[in-house]
Formats: sequence, structure tokens, C-alpha cells
Amino acid sequence: MLRGSIVLWVALLLGLALGQDTRVVNILDPSTSYNREVGRLLVWVMAFAVLIFGVVTGALTYTVVKFRKRGNEQGEPPQFHGNDRLEILWTIIPTLIIVIIFGLTAQSMIANAKLPAGAMTVKVTGYQFWWDYEYEGLGIRNSNELILPVGKPVIVEITSKDIIHSWWPASLVGKQDAIPGVTTRLHFTPEKEGIYYGQCAELCGASHANMRFRVIVVSQEAFDRFVRGAQNYRAPEPQDALTRQGQGLFQQNCAACHAVKGTAAQGVIGPDLSYFGNRTTVGSGLWENTDTYLIPWIKNSPGVKPGSKMPPFAQLSDDDAKAIAAYIKSLRIEGLDFQGLPQF
Ligand code: CUA
Repeated sequence: MLRGSIVLWVALLLGLALGQDTRVVNILDPSTSYNREVGRLLVWVMAFAVLIFGVVTGALTYTVVKFRKRGNEQGEPPQFHGNDRLEILWTIIPTLIIVIIFGLTAQSMIANAKLPAGAMTVKVTGYQFWWDYEYEGLGIRNSNELILPVGKPVIVEITSKDIIHSWWPASLVGKQDAIPGVTTRLHFTPEKEGIYYGQCAELCGASHANMRFRVIVVSQEAFDRFVRGAQNYRAPEPQDALTRQGQGLFQQNCAACHAVKGTAAQGVIGPDLSYFGNRTTVGSGLWENTDTYLIPWIKNSPGVKPGSKMPPFAQLSDDDAKAIAAYIKSLRIEGLDFQGLPQF
């Protein structure tokens, strides 16, 4: 039993050490004042927890050692009952600790509840198993990857179209449930440019763990370029035979569910693919946006992501899927590149 658990731990730590994905979701390396408050609170709570652990295990060890059976002692040791001073002390100290933690928590909650001035609003909608983003007042939307300008406060209004999800970019802000028919809110100000990992945090079906997303924090200048590009977006005309073939196949097979701005494709069931070529990931934050992942995704989405609502397209050959991949990768806003950003 003990040996088994040691082996398990060693395997776990080795796995962590050798893991390919070096991204660590870490609220102690905050990129927002929101998480700095949470981190500060965590340090206090941990300090008290360590103190209590030390005192309790210390007292227990002391008692066991001091009152252990010695030599050939017989019968019960001398019995005593009650110690008023000790009992008052162990009532007052924990009460004080709770009052202090309450005060610190209330302070952090008040600080984090303050609505920032001049914030932009993004509406987040959860679907099994992806996310839709609509920028209020800008007339643009995107899926799975939320692009935000650095240093600008954002209010995120969250809801769901099917069942309860939870939107959680851990390095930026706490999680918030996405509930059908209800709007919940979060707000924060991203302070560092980078690509932030996000994850659905409410069990929502077979691909709950695969319902990921990214928040891409860029300079104000790059964000303005994105907004202009998205507002004026017209899907570019295919520049080669493969892309043209892909465009035709896309209209036949994909347009009923997906929208591409400026084309006949206006489906609203699946993610908006207007600037899919700018995405860093495919499958709702699951894999790098390359043909290696994109082609199997197009051909048999539930085969690579259990429970995916996109049906398999058995009639598509590998070449067909390659053509569709070429077409949707050509759908991009020029001059936007997120590849060099640090990852959090
Ligand atoms: Cu959506 Cu878990």
C-alpha cells in the first residue's frame, strides 16, 4: 500500500517534470490585480493553516511522547480533568484567526468588486463544448480565443446556451458559472501581453475537460488592428485551386452551422469561423492550429473530441478535408500574429 502510493507519486512527479506542455496555471504569478488580491489572501490563509498544523501536531507529539508508557508501568496513569486557562485560550485564538481571515477576505472581495471605469464589455456564451465571444458596441464576435488589449479593464458577461459551464482563465481571474437564462459577471484588467490558458470549470458532459479556450492579451495598437480588421472583414477570395475547392466544400458541408463574415455561410450553431486563420488553436483550445490536428477534426470531430456536436463527415476524403482546412486557414485578418506571445 505504502510502496504503491510512493510509486504513484514518483510517476506523477516524473510526468510533471517530463511533461511536454510547460504551461502552468499559477495564481501566484498574477497578471491582474484581481489575482494579486486572491494570491495575497492565499498567503495569509496558508500561514494560519501552517501555524495551526504545527501547533496541533506539536501538541499531539508532545503528549504522546511525554505520557507514553514507561518500563513496566501497570494500570491507568493519574487522571485529571479540565483546564480553564487552556480552554479559554483555544477558544479565543481560533476565533481571532477566523475574524482576521474574515476581515482580509471582505477587504479583497470589496477591492475585487469595484467596477473599473472605462471598461469594455464582452459577452461570453458557453456551448457544449466551445465558447462564443461578442464584443459589445463593436459589432464583432469571435470564438474560443478572446482577444483583449493590455491595460484596459474588461467586463465579461457570461451565459450559456445549453447547460451550466464555467469560464475560468486561471491566471487572469476567478471562475464564473455560465448559466442558461442568467447573466453572471466578472471584471479584470489584464496587465501582461500573452496567451492565457482557460478551461471550462463545471462538469458539462463528455468533453468538459476538452472545453478549453485562450485569452490573447495584445498591445492596444494590435487590438485596434484586430477590431478594424474584424469590422471591415470580407472573406478573402481563394488564391489557389486547393483553397477554391475548399471554399466549395465548405459551402456544401459546413455553412449550415458556421458563419464566415461576407460569405453565404451564416450558420449560428457552431463557432464563427470568420478569422479562423488567426486562431492559435483548434477544437476549442485543444490543439495547435495545424493540418495535423485540423484535418482529423474536420473529418471526424467526435472521434477526436468525445461528445463533440459537429457530426463526422464520412463522405469527405483526406484531400477534401485538406482543401477545407486550406480554405478556413485562409480566412484571416492580415497583420495579426499571436505566435510570438508568451504563454501563461
Ligand atoms: Cu463546459 Cu465543462
